[in-house]
Amino acid sequence: MQASKPIGVFDSGYGGLTVLKEIVKELPAYDYLYMGDNARAPYGTRSFDTVYEYTLECVQWFFAQGCELVVLACNTASAKALRTIQQKDLPLIGPHKRVLGVIRPTTEIIGQYSQTGQVGILGTTGTVQSNSYPIEIAKFFPKIQVYQEACPMWVPLIENDEYNKPGADYYVKQHLDHILSAHPGIDTLLLACTHYPLLLQKIRQFVPGEVTIVSQGEIVAQSLAAYLQKHREIADTCSKNGQINFFTTDSPVDFDNHAAVFFGSPVASKHLDLGGEWRKKGD
Ligand code: DGL
Repeated sequence: MQASKPIGVFDSGYGGLTVLKEIVKELPAYDYLYMGDNARAPYGTRSFDTVYEYTLECVQWFFAQGCELVVLACNTASAKALRTIQQKDLPLIGPHKRVLGVIRPTTEIIGQYSQTGQVGILGTTGTVQSNSYPIEIAKFFPKIQVYQEACPMWVPLIENDEYNKPGADYYVKQHLDHILSAHPGIDTLLLACTHYPLLLQKIRQFVPGEVTIVSQGEIVAQSLAAYLQKHREIADTCSKNGQINFFTTDSPVDFDNHAAVFFGSPVASKHLDLGGEWRKKGD
């Protein structure tokens, strides 16, 4: 058995589990460490500085647990914190470690789904305000027109287990009607928040059949597989015992009750105190 150097997978809460599920399907041999910062979720309505500060703290925790590679399975953190962490913090806190996000792999491929050349991005307020999607998609698909819609109520509906109830219809329909009536040429809608796959059935009800709805999980998983294939020096340092451990900054009982529906199988998490003992290890 190798010493544990799991791949870290991070989200503000449960959403990243929709990505982890696909990553584990694609790369079952690796060890994984999932952390949801549920105590401070949602991140989507927080400022750049706050999302950066929270995300960096969580990345430091992953590094202290032995992770050489961390995936920010959260669009908001990828949009607001990833670049600064990669450019400013990594050289100081882990020059040989890697932190990856979910926006780049998605923008590399999203243009291929559209026939009309019009793509709609559904995300948190933070992701939309960052403009990361229009900027990144323009690099890979300069002719694609990108329209964005912030859906600030969707994560709270999901985190509070209200997403399947009739009350959720109002908020789901409201945003879909808004973006599709303003831009009827959209034929591809990207769920640019890792929580949103839970709303897929409801979203489908309010979107014309010819519109393709794209979730990120598989895209990110395939991109990670390609990355590890290309970067053997990283792949070789990650341990491969097929183990998955889950941590939450809030109540493990609540986490486990909610998490199974995101992850697709039962989850047993532990509590993480971000202000706790782990900090001393690095001193
Ligand atoms: N799952 C996160 C994302 O992909 C957002 C959740 C939040 O607002 O905390 O953006």
